[in-house]
Amino acid sequence: MISSIQTGRPCAVAILAAGQGTRMRSDRAKVLHPIGGAPMLHHAMRAAMALEPQRVAVVVGHGGDAVAEAARALLPDVAICSQDQQMGTGHAVRMAAPALEGFGGDLMILFGDTPFLTAETLQAVAAARGNADLVVLGFEAADPGGYGRLVTDDAGGLLRIVEAKDATADELTIRLCNSGIMAGDCATLLSLLEQVGNDNAKGEFYLTDAIGLGRDRGLTATVVRCGEAETLGINDRAQLAEAEATFQARARHAALMSGVTMTAPETVFLAWDTQLGRDVTIEPNVFFGPGVTVADGAWIRAYSHLEGCHVGPGAAIGPFARLRPGAELAEGAKIGNFVEMKNATLGPGAKANHLSYLGDTAVGAGANIGAGTITCNYDGFGKYPTQIGDRAFVGTNTAIVAPVTIGAGAYVGTGTVVTRDVPEDALAIARTEQTNHDGMAKRLRAKLRARAGKTDKE
Ligand code: UD1
Ligand code: CA
Repeated sequence: MISSIQTGRPCAVAILAAGQGTRMRSDRAKVLHPIGGAPMLHHAMRAAMALEPQRVAVVVGHGGDAVAEAARALLPDVAICSQDQQMGTGHAVRMAAPALEGFGGDLMILFGDTPFLTAETLQAVAAARGNADLVVLGFEAADPGGYGRLVTDDAGGLLRIVEAKDATADELTIRLCNSGIMAGDCATLLSLLEQVGNDNAKGEFYLTDAIGLGRDRGLTATVVRCGEAETLGINDRAQLAEAEATFQARARHAALMSGVTMTAPETVFLAWDTQLGRDVTIEPNVFFGPGVTVADGAWIRAYSHLEGCHVGPGAAIGPFARLRPGAELAEGAKIGNFVEMKNATLGPGAKANHLSYLGDTAVGAGANIGAGTITCNYDGFGKYPTQIGDRAFVGTNTAIVAPVTIGAGAYVGTGTVVTRDVPEDALAIARTEQTNHDGMAKRLRAKLRARAGKTDKE
């Protein structure tokens, strides 16, 4: 990997994210719609952050506060620059000028709605600054449509960029298109953008005009190429769904190649940060939200839903398991069908195999949680913890009213409502004693039958 440090040029990044995204028909800013469980903006920011930039500015407009909050969540010292009116990409970059004040190095400009751009490609753009004053990332479009066209000379040098709406019929035949990513010396780019006017088909200040203006000043410009799939921009929900599908296809393929078994990978949904160890098996119809790590040899059975959790080595969950944020299974632990865990840990070899809820709970090594055990962690006002010691045995249909501690090796009888701590190795049992009344069932049946007016046979 080539970082800005290796290319010898300090680098700053400006990410344009002020556009309305009208075609999304959404109250949410376009760049906040998620792909693989992370807002589009984060995908762009992460690719940019691989350049180890010294400053990152995000230009916000529509839904600015929410976009700013999302940007800060990923990068606390990001500079947020407001563009109140969307007057074009060139104008948007100028809004970042205050955040770039006094910066002596390169500026890389990218769009917040192109989530597939890889760090490698951005590094190639950064590296190309060694050969030219201005670098544009281009691609051969299958259908160039509304993209800006890259006008090159015979030697492949970039002369200018013409927007589709301003292009001549001849220029429209060019298939080499502008991705929107551009790099150059920061001060130079900003001074070029000061020169850009809006006398064009859209009446906007085009970032793309910086190239022609730069050439007029005697600067050199070049094109770095990437595949069209990488520059895919999202404009509506259909494209968002396609982008998600693309993301999933790549993530599944990467998981399979890294040694994960999936019998029906097309039914498994991964997040941008899902980490799966070697020899993990994932059965069909499993959903991973963000923040999941699964260690080597673990087994995720069908119809499980995981987010913000860790499944330890050789542990097994499901079918129909739900691991919510803060769930952690140590080595060889097991949770079975219809078990939900939230902010709860299972020690090595511990088991909760059927129909349970474990919330705000720590379960020790080798403990067994019987079917239907519920930790009552919430009283309508506060949430309280439960501790269950090593090797404890919790009988079925137990209600554990937190806060409470069940000691190591303790045994809780079936159907108990635990409201007080249980000492180590103690037996806790809280239920009414059983009584048998001989022949009473038979007499009861006769009575009920008569009351309903039915005969012996009915
Ligand atoms: C732009 C390029 C075009 C390129 C295409 C690639 C220009 C003039 N044109 O066109 O050459 O082929 O992207 O997808 O740059 N934005 C702002 N403020 C604004 C306008 C835009 O922040 O005032 C942001 C948008 O939120 C978006 C990005 O800039 O993230 C691109 O803007 P958009 O209007 O989509 O540009 P295109 O017309 O697609
Ligand atoms: Ca666009």
